Amino acid sequence: MLDLKLEKKELPFAMAEEIKNLRTGITFSGDDIKTVMFTSCAANEGKSTVSIETVRSFAELGKKAIFIDCDLRKSILKHKIEEGSIKNGLTHYLTGQCGLDDIIYRHNPGREDVEFDIIPAGPVSSSPTELLASEKFTNMVKKLRSEYDMVIIDTPPLASVVDASIISACTDGSVIVVEAGNMNYKIIQKVRNRLKSSGSRILGVVLNKVDKSKKSYGYYKYGKEYEYSYGYGK
Ligand SMILES: Nc1ncnc2c1ncn2[C@@H]1O[C@H](COP(=O)(O)OP(=O)(O)OP(=O)(O)O)[C@@H](O)[C@H]1O
Ligand SMILES: [Mg+2]
Repeated sequence: MLDLKLEKKELPFAMAEEIKNLRTGITFSGDDIKTVMFTSCAANEGKSTVSIETVRSFAELGKKAIFIDCDLRKSILKHKIEEGSIKNGLTHYLTGQCGLDDIIYRHNPGREDVEFDIIPAGPVSSSPTELLASEKFTNMVKKLRSEYDMVIIDTPPLASVVDASIISACTDGSVIVVEAGNMNYKIIQKVRNRLKSSGSRILGVVLNKVDKSKKSYGYYKYGKEYEYSYGYGK
């Protein structure tokens, strides 16, 4: 197994608690939910941050978990990993340049963090949509689903490119990350409809970057939003 070390940021207490709630929400969505995709309407809403913390959170429970970076346009991982530590990524595999074992890295715990696996995106692809729509990608997700307890997939924003709706067709469910106070509900509906029309089961919505000092995002309001979000996924 190849080794890789991701930088670990200590999460604020409130966020760490909400990630645990998210993990519980996903777990209680059903025992058939093993591949979960994270997307958002626009860039920068926090899907990579939330999805990687979700993988970490499942690993903390002792689950065999893997994170797949499917943002083949702008990978988050390249900012978090030491330069040169990745030889091959998803784009190498999907273009037939290496085997699946060559792109699965073990996040090196070094006793200071939990253990989980990672598939990095690899070099930016000129035809990401075609690669993700390939049978090779679908078969890879199926194989990983049979080998892991939880497969978490990070994707690009759905309002601008279709990659996430293609990926959602081969996952058990999807989670939409919404940056609080920064997104028009009509755009969120558009993204939800896109996901629904690709046959995805929407597990819920994460309201991210909530400024709890603002009155309109007081604790109860936030709690309600969160519950409501889960409700409408169903
Ligand atoms: N809950 C949060 N509180 C504060 N900062 C956050 C939170 N979630 C994410 N961020 C910050 O917001 C920025 C964007 O986060 P991230 O890269 O996860 O977003 P993204 O949706 O994956 O973006 P992109 O669409 O570019 O892939 C980062 O600097 C991250 O540290
Ligand atoms: Mg991202």
